[in-house]
Amino acid sequence: MTARSSLTVVLAAGEGTRMRSLTPKVLHPVAGQSLLAHVLRAAPSSESATLAVVIGPDHTAVADEARGQRGDAAIFVQRERLGTAHAVLAAREAIARGADDLLIAFGDTPLISAATFERLRAALKAGAALAVLGFRAADATGYGRLLTAGGRLVAIREHADASAEERKIDLCNAGVMAFRGDKALAILDRIDNHNRKGEYYLTDAVAIVNDMGLEAVVIETSEDEVRGINTKAQLAEAEAVMQARLRKRALEAGVTMIAPETVFLAADTKFGKDVTIEPFVVIGPGVTIEDGAVIHSFSHLVETSVGSRASVGPYARLRPGTSLGEGAKIGNFVETKAARLEAGVKVNHLSYIGDTEIGAGSNIGAGTITCNYDGFSKHKTLIGKAAFVGTNSSLVAPVKIGNGAYIGSGSVITRNVPDDAMAVERSPLNIREGGAARYREIKTRNKKPKA
Ligand code: UD1
Ligand code: CA
Repeated sequence: MTARSSLTVVLAAGEGTRMRSLTPKVLHPVAGQSLLAHVLRAAPSSESATLAVVIGPDHTAVADEARGQRGDAAIFVQRERLGTAHAVLAAREAIARGADDLLIAFGDTPLISAATFERLRAALKAGAALAVLGFRAADATGYGRLLTAGGRLVAIREHADASAEERKIDLCNAGVMAFRGDKALAILDRIDNHNRKGEYYLTDAVAIVNDMGLEAVVIETSEDEVRGINTKAQLAEAEAVMQARLRKRALEAGVTMIAPETVFLAADTKFGKDVTIEPFVVIGPGVTIEDGAVIHSFSHLVETSVGSRASVGPYARLRPGTSLGEGAKIGNFVETKAARLEAGVKVNHLSYIGDTEIGAGSNIGAGTITCNYDGFSKHKTLIGKAAFVGTNSSLVAPVKIGNGAYIGSGSVITRNVPDDAMAVERSPLNIREGGAARYREIKTRNKKPKA
């Protein structure tokens, strides 16, 4: 049996003025990735799956995001905003290629799951020409209402066009639909704009399918899965739903979190076995945490890989390009960026380590700073294996510290230090015997008694 082929058309042409933002609506993030990325990742992806994204004019950033997420995404521009059916038909060329299943999704509905797309496709396989995703809305205002009769879907009535009686229906159109591919264009081409808004409504497809003597069905899901985002408040609600899902998934994967509600994850966070995340940790996109690693409280990680049994924080900030080897330790008030620390490296207190590579087993003392920026460009610091950098040292890049080298505390290192060398850069220490006593005596003698 060969798998049914599919085309998913994602409508992403909304400019999202209600977000009060210059950023196109579908590029706003939830759990560290754009709304659009969530939808694209849920859409079928296999050898036999293709993808089309419909964008508004001049939305090249949306096209870039789509291609970045799915290299195979075909981009279509809807020049005028004439309704959801009109938007779908912007991808006519892709639809005309005739996949078995045509799936439609909105780019502003980030919580949709892959399983739901598969349920819609199963309904097509079972004989329906059109399967519509429905949900029971707590407040149905604004949604298209699903009109059913004898278990079949007969029409969708848009809120603006619905009668008072129809507005009482709480079963609503989520916006996600699946069409039998060989009928899709014939159905879509029959949609007109004879309604109150003068728009080409995708939802009219249901009545047309019934007219043609074909079957339309409803597949129900929870309201949480199909929340559309129009405002920043809805964006925050979607974030909360997504975080709850991600925490549950992490706990199921064996991550230990004593206060999961205080931990923020990204949709792409990857965990090994026996990982512990303490309360109040924020994990941004691109983070991998391997077996047995511990992330202590109040740490913030982005685009970082944490090796097995490594330990981070409390109060650590790991910025993009950080990679920690097995058993490495990053302590409190340490910031790293583009830093590769090999196995067993310790940076335990109050340091900045940027554009740096540190070989296995090296120890970086408290307050060490890699001076990677000269006001014009960034430079690299290379530290060998088993080196020891004394506290409060400044390593002025570009600079190399050899294997087994030893840097005395408080040094400003501006030249390369060879393997096994000791480097100390420090003004001479001046100790005057009895000096403190003499100083106190002079000060006391000169002090005027209080009036
Ligand atoms: C639509 C549905 C409604 C459903 C609701 C679910 C129609 C006619 N109505 O209503 O039944 O309950 O979604 O949220 O389909 N878009 C374009 N180009 C256009 C118009 C829309 O790309 O010309 C995109 C929008 O960016 C958005 C999606 O299609 O992502 C839905 O459009 P929107 O105007 O929000 O439709 P609703 O009125 O919410
Ligand atoms: Ca909408």
